[in-house]
Amino acid sequence: MTTDTGAELQRDPEGRLRHFLTLEGLGRDELEQLLDLAQFYVRTPGDMPPRDQTLAGRTVANLFFEPSTRTRVSFELAARRLGADVVNLDLQSSSRVKGETVLDTIYTLQAMLVDVFVMRDAEPGLPAYVAQHVAPHACVLNAGEAHVSHPTQGLLDTLTIRQRKGDLRTTSVAIVGDILHSRVARSTGTALLALGVGELRLVSPASLMPEAGELADASRYHSLADGIRGADVVMALRIQHERIPDSASLDIDAFNREWGITAENLRYAKPDAIVMHPGPMNRGVEITNEVADGPQSVIRQQVSNGVAVRMAVLATIVRNVQARNVEAGRRAG
Ligand code: NCD
Repeated sequence: MTTDTGAELQRDPEGRLRHFLTLEGLGRDELEQLLDLAQFYVRTPGDMPPRDQTLAGRTVANLFFEPSTRTRVSFELAARRLGADVVNLDLQSSSRVKGETVLDTIYTLQAMLVDVFVMRDAEPGLPAYVAQHVAPHACVLNAGEAHVSHPTQGLLDTLTIRQRKGDLRTTSVAIVGDILHSRVARSTGTALLALGVGELRLVSPASLMPEAGELADASRYHSLADGIRGADVVMALRIQHERIPDSASLDIDAFNREWGITAENLRYAKPDAIVMHPGPMNRGVEITNEVADGPQSVIRQQVSNGVAVRMAVLATIVRNVQARNVEAGRRAG
């Protein structure tokens, strides 16, 4: 299987996004266009959901081979609000557990005219691998690839920070907790650095810190107080037990004492700092109830933005497919 992150692979010969596999290689303008389009689709609870027909005639399959609540539901709502048909493959009932290869599943769905594949999997490289094998009119969107990347989450986090803090170039963001196993930290960090964030801090115990080569422009802290001191944004991450072979031996109480975000230690950050979490939260471990439900928390705003970001990504990819079809028609005619 390819280990290509997909940065080249996700583009068509004209350089447009054909798939959405990674934020690597996306420039500032391209990221800002996606964020601006997402902002256009943002609504708050109580509003009517935005609707248009950009995806009319498309069929989206959500293939989630790892658990998901927010991401799967938000991709489904995003696709429906853009007029697509949607099918959700339940991982328990999919044929993969009976030994069918992922490509056979993809080809089976393609034969039923599915043309947009949204994938989450524990195996690194799978979205890029599938992207190399789908039909020319089909596209693949990464909804979480092992510990490697989660590009739509990176965009929704960035959108939330932009909404609350304005200019990213004067904003200091601290990501706290199990960064080593976090695809969210990698994608959110990649987006923020590409957009020229004022400061990106990785705050975690040495055992949960990625190698220096990853997110190389971030600063690294091994103390919570130092890491969040004066920060504008504090993002908590859960310990991702499913990616830690000997996770049963982890001392959760010690982690909570040293790295858990509490009302008390949040005072090290700026008084108007916002608190983020991609979910699912382990309340009482990496974050207290008081902080998760408190006035500085923007965790539900992140969830609202998730639908808007996925609408923006789906609309962009499908418009690019249409542009290619028009050009091909012109060449043929
Ligand atoms: C995250 C994920 O699946 O990577 N959740 C999400 O998509 N909102 C984070 C996590 O599982 O901890």
